Amino acid sequence: MNSKNLFVGLMSGTSLDGIDAALVEIGGTTADDFYWNQIAFMSRPYDKEYRNSLHESIENGTPKSLCQLNASLGEKLGAVVCELCDSASVHSSSLRAIGSHGQTFWHIPPTDQYRGSTLQLGDPATLAEYTGASVISDFRSRDMAAGGQGAPLVSWPDWLMFSSRDHRRALQNLGGMANVTWLPKKESREDLIAFDTGPGVALMNEATRRATNYQEDFDRDGLLAIQGSINEDILSFLMNDDFLVMPPPKSTGRERFGADLIDQIIERFEPDRNEISWCDVIATLTVFTAKSIGEAYQTWVIPRGVDEMFLLGGGVHNPSLVAAIEAELKTITIRHGFELGINPDAREALSFAVLAWGYLNGLATNMPFATGSSGGRILGSLTPGLTW
Ligand SMILES: Nc1ncnc2c1ncn2[C@@H]1O[C@H](COP(=O)(O)OP(=O)(O)OP(=O)(O)O)[C@@H](O)[C@H]1O
Ligand SMILES: [Mg+2]
Repeated sequence: MNSKNLFVGLMSGTSLDGIDAALVEIGGTTADDFYWNQIAFMSRPYDKEYRNSLHESIENGTPKSLCQLNASLGEKLGAVVCELCDSASVHSSSLRAIGSHGQTFWHIPPTDQYRGSTLQLGDPATLAEYTGASVISDFRSRDMAAGGQGAPLVSWPDWLMFSSRDHRRALQNLGGMANVTWLPKKESREDLIAFDTGPGVALMNEATRRATNYQEDFDRDGLLAIQGSINEDILSFLMNDDFLVMPPPKSTGRERFGADLIDQIIERFEPDRNEISWCDVIATLTVFTAKSIGEAYQTWVIPRGVDEMFLLGGGVHNPSLVAAIEAELKTITIRHGFELGINPDAREALSFAVLAWGYLNGLATNMPFATGSSGGRILGSLTPGLTW
């Protein structure tokens, strides 16, 4: 292990579950001599009170609450980096850099009328002070300023880390939102494609929170969905969402597939009056999530050829969701993310380490045909460490 090449990647995703951190050795200076080796990985959940304060701030936040959360998130990120480095006997100040995605508070994709904007918090200065390391953060803004969706950003790291000489691969993330990266064979001249397919676990999580009076944050092991029946009226209402037929590049967020949509379902279908149980709602949302992925594949991914599909992100732990996806995509070989040689929960944290490496080597790390931006850009902003 060459300590000069050590990076930490940090991800705290839309479902507000916590912080994922990967310690990675990354070598080379270009895409051609790039190599990587994961050294350690950990996930640290936010405690309940903190998670509730994030939810509250996203739904009804004030400038003051956002300002405070920005600093406290910086400290939390720093604490996880230090714990991760300790576990591998590495000094955090000796890291080459930390790539920190930050916690998304809001993401507005571009439209014909609006250029789009995005806000991730987790103060990089606090993180740099806490760890001593240089921090690259705010990766999405530059792509959006150049006309892109600011998402998905994992496609370039996916291509470097996971493209195969022999197989055309689809990597399917099941995080708060769901997104796909389709990777052509390594030597192929075809362009990869990557886009958000729609909701990941966000809708199921929000319904579970309501169903359990905010005691549970997600449908653990898919057990609530199993007890419910699909409500066809709600399902067809959900399947009518314009997002599903919008061609890529496209991105989405909790603003579209989150609490507001659950409110709309309650208002429109009055589950209490119509004897629709919360388990029915969760079962329906689980199938909707799978169908939105299935439709995206039928239209934009399968026509390019898919030899194998890998499921990644926290949704792989929900057997009801995985079974629903398998039922939608019977013609595809579906593999668990572990078969890619990584912990499926680590993929995005690994990606942000690779994006930090790309920044320091002056490489354009967005893929304009995936994000829709007007060109390749070096993504991120640098906060120098104590020994820069
Ligand atoms: N045992 C489990 N059973 C069911 N679902 C689970 C289980 N463990 C984790 N999950 C799901 O995984 C989610 C967390 O996954 P992940 O961290 O990939 O999401 P995220 O942070 O929103 O990701 P993204 O960065 O893609 O937005 C939880 O909110 C939950 O829905
Ligand atoms: Mg997460």
